[in-house]
Amino acid sequence: MDCRGLIRWARGVATWQGVRATRFAWRRRRIDARWLPDRGPELARAPGAVTGAEPLPGGGIVRFARSELRICVVVGGAVFWGWDGAGPEPSYALAGGAPEPDPRAVLEPDKDGGWRVVSERVTVEISRIGAVSIRTPGGIALRRELPPRWWEPVGGGPARWSQRSEVAADARFFGLGGRASGPRLRNGAYRLWNTDPGGSFGPGDDPLSITMPVQLVVADAGTHLAFQDNSWDGLVTLREGEEGAGSGHDRPGTSEVRMAGGPLRCWVIVGRPARVLTHWARLTGAPAVPPSWALGPQHARWGFGGAEGVRRIVAGYRERGLALSAVHLDIDHLAGHRVFTVDRERFPALSELAEELGGAGVRLVSIVDPGVRAEPGNPVYEEGAAAGAFVRDGDGREVRGVVWPGECVYPDFTDPRVRSWWGGLYEERLARGFAGVWHDMNEPVSFAPFGDRTLPRSARHDLDGRGGDHREGHNVYGLTMARAGYEGLARLRPGERPFLFSRSGWAGMQRYGGTWSGDVSSDWPGLRASLSLVLGLGLCGVPYSGPDIGGFAGDPSPELYLRWFQMGAYLPLFRTHAALGAGRREPWEFGPSVLGHARAALGERERLRPYFVTLAHTARSTGAPYARPLWWGSPEDRGLRECEDAFLLGDALLVAPVLEPGVERRAVRLPKGRWYDTVTGRAYDGPGRVVLDAPLSRVPVLARGGAVIPVRGADGGVELEVWAPAAGRRGGGVVVPDPGDGWARAEVERYTSRLVDGRVKVRRVSAEGAVPPSRRVRLRGL
Ligand code: NOJ
Repeated sequence: MDCRGLIRWARGVATWQGVRATRFAWRRRRIDARWLPDRGPELARAPGAVTGAEPLPGGGIVRFARSELRICVVVGGAVFWGWDGAGPEPSYALAGGAPEPDPRAVLEPDKDGGWRVVSERVTVEISRIGAVSIRTPGGIALRRELPPRWWEPVGGGPARWSQRSEVAADARFFGLGGRASGPRLRNGAYRLWNTDPGGSFGPGDDPLSITMPVQLVVADAGTHLAFQDNSWDGLVTLREGEEGAGSGHDRPGTSEVRMAGGPLRCWVIVGRPARVLTHWARLTGAPAVPPSWALGPQHARWGFGGAEGVRRIVAGYRERGLALSAVHLDIDHLAGHRVFTVDRERFPALSELAEELGGAGVRLVSIVDPGVRAEPGNPVYEEGAAAGAFVRDGDGREVRGVVWPGECVYPDFTDPRVRSWWGGLYEERLARGFAGVWHDMNEPVSFAPFGDRTLPRSARHDLDGRGGDHREGHNVYGLTMARAGYEGLARLRPGERPFLFSRSGWAGMQRYGGTWSGDVSSDWPGLRASLSLVLGLGLCGVPYSGPDIGGFAGDPSPELYLRWFQMGAYLPLFRTHAALGAGRREPWEFGPSVLGHARAALGERERLRPYFVTLAHTARSTGAPYARPLWWGSPEDRGLRECEDAFLLGDALLVAPVLEPGVERRAVRLPKGRWYDTVTGRAYDGPGRVVLDAPLSRVPVLARGGAVIPVRGADGGVELEVWAPAAGRRGGGVVVPDPGDGWARAEVERYTSRLVDGRVKVRRVSAEGAVPPSRRVRLRGL
């Protein structure tokens, strides 16, 4: 039975749950009809003709007959513009407010009565009817936003708007949060509304738990990121362009963003992909660095059965010599699924269990759902209700939805007081010995047989003092919950970096932690979808994520499980997980040959742990995701833009997972430069396409010529694995030694590699110049 079937079944059996969900859905319909009646007649508006302009630092204000456009280039080169008086703030995405305007960027009159702002990295042209073009300093157009349109209800209320943009005919779209059908986003409509897919999804399902109005557009002329800073419900319709379309002319690619309300404001960052992501991280916040143990293998299960079940699994790993860093406890460890409780029958001494596992190097991670069972005697409910912490409807009554524990209320995380209260509740989790948290069901979900599985759109939110409703608060619910959890944990354990990952979120969620795929289907398309999610999210600035290995709700075949496991071993979050009633996910459950191959994948992951630690810190300092599309360093290589079945792990490795059954050889596209098959040591020169062996025992992994990769040596120390550069080429790499689980500043060691007279020379770059490395070096590829 698939998970949707399972949920339907569960609802049928526990009929009170189904009845409550139906009641909720009807009530929601009634309440929304009352507080958000039909919009009635609307008036359409466009900016009209330009009437004047006022220069300000970084740009200025350009006035039109029926709107005005504020435009500003900030230090670092990002461009902001906002219509109808919209400024960069307030914003849930920005980390520390808007960066300072670039004083050198000046608004000046342009040809044909328009205006322009010229800056070091980009030129912004504003036409006399309000089109905004972003050009490279060389004058090539990367993006052209046509004049927007608004529709305003005659009787008052938020204006809907639409903005159509054109990009180069060769451009490819990526991003928009976590999309199962990517990473390259095909022609179609993508909704911006965080949605629980309801137990299982594959490439055809959209939207999912994390949507973001963030597009990364890659074209020959350059890469850019465009971010519509607006958390309302929306729809993005993408259409790739065509070169030499009608009568030999190019047809540009188009993106049309339609939003149900909220400000029309946009950020654009241009440059090479690495630069774009660095500036995106500066704008929206540096990614949190998970503790090193969270970069190791982890095992989760909905339905361990109890403490003995957990012990059995951990012993199973130990007895077979399989590495395990953490075990995740799902809602079945809670009393009646109530958040911040423990089922004492199944887990009579949880903190002792945590201690015992900790002794074996295994941490415990706890699920935390936002829904609080609404019942007298539940201290979390009573405390929250007394403090007015829960989301209310327009009449001031608590909104009651239905989730696993039954009838639930929802903390309003957009209220700073509520965030602080909720964050304090994690003390209970820490006292029980949990080392990290896993936020779930925070789109937020209420089960409902019809309509969206979420709260009424008219439900009220604090929105950090501004006040508003769920139309604006919905998409930032998971983000603000992550903030509450992260800040709470950091306050409670000031000496440790929090470990948190969250199913839902929005632009900027990386500040607080990562995410995972959610309930991806246990089939080959699900495996593909899970790679798409990781890569797409990375390009939206969320570098730490990974799939449920084996898929969530079904029974993967041994081959599918193995291929998933082998891919997961190279993704940041490396975690097996499964639904209640789904097949097992322990590596030994699929026969001795799968166990042997999974052991090899685990061993390799552990050997690469220092590299993962380095990538985590690199993500923090540069915004670069650990797992990157193949075009990352060569966006001008069109073949790579189309390639969706392989990825780069940092600068050094190229991983080509097997995503189809029965495949033991596969084609791999190589970016330019020399690449070595890490098993055979054979060298290949890119750009190009090679066919490599992919026996069941491994997936092809290639190392870049010249790469210096930190790996774990036999004695547990960090060694350098160095792949010979091609003749006449140089290489290098960085190593960030694990600074521990606290806040100690991470040191960065930089290395170079060169081929001199047929010998590889590795040097550490230091204040004294290039010195021999003090770490042990293992040369490969000669
Ligand atoms: C949905 C989550 O996506 C899944 O990972 C979890 O096991 C279930 N909720 C139960 O908590």
